[in-house]
Amino acid sequence: AASPLIGRLLPPGEPGKLLRSSLPLPARHQAELPIPAVLKPVRSDAGADYYEITARRATARLLPGHDTEVWGYQGTFPGPTVESRSGRRTVITHRSELPRPTAVHLHGGHTPQDSDGYPLDLVGTAGHDMHAMHGGMEGMAGMDAASILPQREYRYPMKQRAATLWYHDHTMGFTGPQVYRGLAGFHLVRDEEEAALGLPHGARELPLMIADRSFAADGSFAYPELDGGRPGVQEPYMNGVLGDVMLVNGAPWPVARVDRAWYRLRLLNAANARRLRLALDPQPSGGGALVQIGSDGGLLERPLRHDSIDLAPAERFDVLVDFSRYPAGTRVRLVNRLGSGPTAEVMCFDVGGDGAADEFRLPERLSAVERLDPAKAVATRTFVFQKDDRHWTINGEGYRPGRALAAPRLGQVEIWRFVTDFHHPVHLHLDPFQVIGRNNGDPGRYDTGWKDTVDVLPAQGVEVAVRFNDYAGRFLMHCHNLEHEDMAMMAEFTTE
Ligand code: C2O
Ligand code: CU
Repeated sequence: AASPLIGRLLPPGEPGKLLRSSLPLPARHQAELPIPAVLKPVRSDAGADYYEITARRATARLLPGHDTEVWGYQGTFPGPTVESRSGRRTVITHRSELPRPTAVHLHGGHTPQDSDGYPLDLVGTAGHDMHAMHGGMEGMAGMDAASILPQREYRYPMKQRAATLWYHDHTMGFTGPQVYRGLAGFHLVRDEEEAALGLPHGARELPLMIADRSFAADGSFAYPELDGGRPGVQEPYMNGVLGDVMLVNGAPWPVARVDRAWYRLRLLNAANARRLRLALDPQPSGGGALVQIGSDGGLLERPLRHDSIDLAPAERFDVLVDFSRYPAGTRVRLVNRLGSGPTAEVMCFDVGGDGAADEFRLPERLSAVERLDPAKAVATRTFVFQKDDRHWTINGEGYRPGRALAAPRLGQVEIWRFVTDFHHPVHLHLDPFQVIGRNNGDPGRYDTGWKDTVDVLPAQGVEVAVRFNDYAGRFLMHCHNLEHEDMAMMAEFTTE
């Protein structure tokens, strides 16, 4: 059967509109690559590690000669990295001193509903009035259910395999501007299986949070918010906000000095809307320099070599690079083949001299990955992601809290089919899925492994096999283009 036809096809193109900075762009490859600090637990007991994080405004020196106000976890952008062990509980108390309330979602977390960062389960200070903030906005029905607490304890059982997760703001209607201001950080899960592989670690393991931003003349983040602090984005930017400065871990086009050795790059596209096609330039002779070992949901079965990697917002690729394939003194640029001018560059690696010890050998097998059997599926559901006159919809509906579009049973395999008119990175909460087909053909070259976000291109249908486990409740599916998400391209499903 052919993909269901969608009514109105938007022309392909950039999934957003470029907002130009009003200051001269800084020189590239000057700033040193920052590595976010790893957060220490405030205490630990036999079963869990406890952390405290306060979201606050702070001044950061992101661009030379300018101060930028960030809204950051612990006042930094990116926020501190949290590290968990698989099977060991992580409990994080979040507080907020921000001008607006916030909800915190652990993206990729296998998390019970009450800790999942539901967009109306807010953390904030006294005086925040959500009703006033959302007043006058149609389609914001259901706001009555909002609750604001001065602090919230997010409990993560961590019944999941090693993977690169990230945490970010998920506030109803304001996720785009709040993540843009800096509310995002890494959360890494480690386990025994991964440790046994002896992957590059320490200074040779680099989490890379890639995000484009634009800056106003005074150095502040420029974001085309609606006047009056209402949710949503100004009309020309409804397809997504694209910036002209590429930040990696908060630094513009940074440089990392590397040994002639294997490195582990945990790539995260934390942009609001920009898709990336990452490649190394020059390519080492023989190509295949980006050796993918993991995806959103952890290790692949075996390494997969790529010349370039497409990365939609919120996707993670766990990649190894052997810099000993380059002569000492080479400057290797990480480029974005979907960008142009400044956005075609991301960062660079300066390859050092000889003498670096490296014991690592790339294993042929990485992990035994369970395969969900589509033949066992008990249901097939289709979700159409489409624009209407005013907002972005799923199956013709804008998001309404409390209205579920599906009620899958825990422990059973289902086939979910995502059909789109435009670029939509489709994300499911609670559990990852496996892509089983694209446009009635085979999965694409970036679809391997457990995914929680899938890059769906204009006029495509992507089929995934999914099985939700353990936690009954209401969870979200949405487009991870944050402007689309804020403009209602989100839906709930309930598990039972
Ligand atoms: Cu990364 Cu529902 O979000
Ligand atoms: Cu979208």
